[in-house]
Amino acid sequence: MSTAQSCPLPTVSLPKNLEEEGQNNNEESQLLKSSLPAENDCHTQAEDPVSDVPKYLLELGLTPECRQLISSLPAEKGWVANLLHQYQGFWHTTRQLQAVLTCQNHFQAQETDILLVTPPKSGTTWLKAIVFALMNRVQYPNTDNNHPLLSENPHILVPFLEYGLYIDSQVPNFTTFTSPRLFATHLPLVSLPESAKNSSCKLVYLCRNPKDTFVSLWHFTNKLRTKDMGSNSLEETFDKFIRGVSLYGPFWDHVLGYWKESLENPERVLFLKYEEMKKQPKLQLMKLAQFLGCPFSNEEEARGAVDGIQKLCSFENLSNLEVNKTGKLASGEEYKAFFRRGEVGDAKNHLTPQMIEKVDQITEQKLHGYGLNF
Ligand code: A3P
Repeated sequence: MSTAQSCPLPTVSLPKNLEEEGQNNNEESQLLKSSLPAENDCHTQAEDPVSDVPKYLLELGLTPECRQLISSLPAEKGWVANLLHQYQGFWHTTRQLQAVLTCQNHFQAQETDILLVTPPKSGTTWLKAIVFALMNRVQYPNTDNNHPLLSENPHILVPFLEYGLYIDSQVPNFTTFTSPRLFATHLPLVSLPESAKNSSCKLVYLCRNPKDTFVSLWHFTNKLRTKDMGSNSLEETFDKFIRGVSLYGPFWDHVLGYWKESLENPERVLFLKYEEMKKQPKLQLMKLAQFLGCPFSNEEEARGAVDGIQKLCSFENLSNLEVNKTGKLASGEEYKAFFRRGEVGDAKNHLTPQMIEKVDQITEQKLHGYGLNF
C-alpha cells in the first residue's frame, strides 16, 4: 500500500493577484462602446500611480494582441468589471482575459502537476486547503499546530494560474516549485493551456449546484463592488447567469466539459460535487487521496489523519482563523469574502420559486442527458 511518503511538498509560492473581477466603471452608458482602455492606459501595474481603486479593479498592461482579440469578441456588461468578453465560449473580464492568453501561451504543464479546477464560488478555497493538507501531510502531520493553513490563506498556498501567476502578464518563476506542483484554475476545459490538455497531469474538478453557485457569486461580486458602484440586483444578475453571462460562464457548459472528460478519462479527471463533500467529507477526502496517488494508510486512518485534515479544512475552522478574518490578497480582495455561509441550499433563502424552477429547467435540459444532475 502506498503511503503519504509518496506525497512530497509542493512549494509554497506566493502569487500576486487572485480571485477578482476587474475594472471599476459602472456607467451603463459607457459600456460596450468604450470596451477598452485607451492605448496610453496600457501601462504596467508597476508604473501605475498609487490609487484608492482596489488592484482587482484595474485594467492595465493589455498587449496589442489582447486588445485586438477583444475588439473581435462579443461583450456584455460585467457584474463588477466594466465588461465581460466571450472567449472560446466563456466569459472573462478584460484583465482576466489578458491573463488567460498569457497563461495559454506560456504555461508548460508537467506530467506530475495537479490542477484544481472549479467554476467560481464552488468551494475553491476549501478544495485548495484540503488538497494542500493532503499532499503535505508527511511534512505537516500535525493539523493543530504549526500547520501552514493556520497562518496562511489557501489562495496563497495554492496559486491560481490565470488569476494569480499570470495575472500581470509576467511569466512566473517556477524554479522554486517542487514536484508535484499544485495549481488552481477556473478555466473551462476548452481553454486549458495546450500543455495541460496534452499532458497526463491530474485534474480535480469541484462544482456545486448552480443555484447555490449563483447566490454565492452574487454575494461575492457585490462585496467586490465599491461603495460608489452600489450593489447589483439579484434579478439583474440572475438574468445574466441563466443566459450564461457570468464569470467563466456559462456554468452548465463549464461543468459539462469536465464531466464528459471525467467519464472518458477517470484516471485523469476526478469530478467532485460540493454537496457530496459536505455530506460525506471523510469519504470524499479518501477518494481524493486515492485519486492523487497518496491514499491514506491504515496506520494514518487509525491515528485520525483523515479526521484531522477534515477538521482543519472545515468552514468553521478556516473561517475563524485570524489570518482569514483579517488578511487580504495582494490584489485587494479580503480573505473573509471567500467565507460566507458554507452551506448547501442557501439559494432557497434568496431565489423565488420561479427562479428555482428556471434554473432547474436549464440544468435538466443541459445536463440530464449526460447523466449529471444537481
Ligand atoms: P457561500 O457563499 O455559499 O457561503 P470559492 O472558494 O470557490 O470562492 O467558493 C466560496 C464558497 O465556498 C462560499 O460559499 C464559501 O462560504 C464556501 N466555503 C469557503 N470555505 C469553505 C469550507 N472550508 N467548507 C465549505 N464551504 C466553504
